[in-house]
Amino acid sequence: MDIRTIGEDEIIPWTDAVGIGFLRVPDDAKETREKRIEHWRERADLARTRGAFDGGRCVGTFRSFATGLTVPGGAIVPVSAITNVTVSPTHRRRGLLTEMMGLDLADSAARGEALAILIAAEYRIYGRFGFGVATEYQKLTLDAVRTDFVPDAPVEPGARIELVSAEEVAELGPPLHEEFRPLRPGAIGRTPLWWKMYTGLVSLPMNPVPPRFHAVYRDPSGKVAGLVSYRTDDHWDEFVPKVTLTVDSLLALTPAAEIALWRFCASVDYVERIEGPDRSPDELLPMLVRDPRAITTQSRRDFVWARILDVPAAFSARTYGARDRLVVEVRDDMGYAAGRFAIDGAAEDARCVPTGDPADLVLDASTLGALYLGSGSPVRLAVADRISERTPGAAERAEALLRTPREPWCPDWF
Ligand SMILES: CC(C)(COP(=O)(O)OP(=O)(O)OC[C@H]1O[C@@H](n2cnc3c(N)ncnc32)[C@H](O)[C@@H]1OP(=O)(O)O)[C@@H](O)C(=O)NCCC(=O)NCCS
Repeated sequence: MDIRTIGEDEIIPWTDAVGIGFLRVPDDAKETREKRIEHWRERADLARTRGAFDGGRCVGTFRSFATGLTVPGGAIVPVSAITNVTVSPTHRRRGLLTEMMGLDLADSAARGEALAILIAAEYRIYGRFGFGVATEYQKLTLDAVRTDFVPDAPVEPGARIELVSAEEVAELGPPLHEEFRPLRPGAIGRTPLWWKMYTGLVSLPMNPVPPRFHAVYRDPSGKVAGLVSYRTDDHWDEFVPKVTLTVDSLLALTPAAEIALWRFCASVDYVERIEGPDRSPDELLPMLVRDPRAITTQSRRDFVWARILDVPAAFSARTYGARDRLVVEVRDDMGYAAGRFAIDGAAEDARCVPTGDPADLVLDASTLGALYLGSGSPVRLAVADRISERTPGAAERAEALLRTPREPWCPDWF
């Protein structure tokens, strides 16, 4: 078995293997193959794209890319985002994932990336590699007919909603997103290619983008402060419209923009129901409607998993909710996060350094990853014995230190 980074001439077998891992039958059409090579040449950093080859056949895939992750306080930390992880059914459970993960994390640590992140297809795969659930998302449903807003919901007189084309989104979206990112721990970067794929300006036969409407919110000065992308079905029943509008993305810089965009979606004629499949776990919406029962959480799930590779760098980059100093001892079979560290939440100069002081709390690397962005409750983790408290009251202090007022959220699949 040969595990190595791939060349351009291996894009087809590598992407075929990705498809096989995710149960998609490879598409052999010549035109499709040429498009795929062109696309992945631009999309993948081949120096970070690995394949496992058995006698020349690609049977395992693993890719990471550099991006920035917003951490509490608004700093953007360079991280490794892992994706396209597959092992063909013929070669599963022989340690191929373990080997590819080991190689990629070692490279990331050597490059100085403070953490690695990923989205897990199945919950039980990545905890063993030191990843923990760092952000969650919820799937919301709104009864559009019963959704009306409280009279004092934030409104900016003179603001307006405009429908815009895909080309306009590709232009207006990036600066909006750059302003949005620091506001939300858990957000990651979007490349120019991401925007082209999102708007359908670039599309792959394997993952066609559904046609979408896009609307921007312009504040009274004309500045774009929000963007919603949505699609609708065409469901009618006995000449009565019963359309579902699906919000694929809604980003806003202010509560006024956020509410105006939801209000707009709820006011589109024919729409009976709104679905928001990838919403933040702490949406403002239920607090701003007269009848919060018109909004239902269909599910709340794990989303981004984080694996700390450099504890001092990661924990020095974020800010804290209390001026406290806490010593954590981290157990890590892979070694990267192992040791004892003092996290000092000083207001001006929060930092984290290795220490020989006795530990207040003992936890494993995956629990540390889960707590990093401010999600997860140290108190409940201690009750569940996932954190061991060595100083009485330390879990409660960790709760005050690490938790954030807004929950971390990553709006993007990767
Ligand atoms: C998930 C996947 C990549 C695992 O690859 P693999 O080469 O079989 O994994 P390994 O052999 O290195 O397994 C390492 C350990 O993880 C466990 N493991 C791997 N996948 C698991 C899963 N889906 N559920 C539970 N445990 C899993 C193995 O049992 C093994 O445990 P052990 O060390 O106690 O024996 C592969 O099953 C796959 O491609 N699945 C379909 C696509 C997918 O879900 N990819 C992940 C996208 S995020």
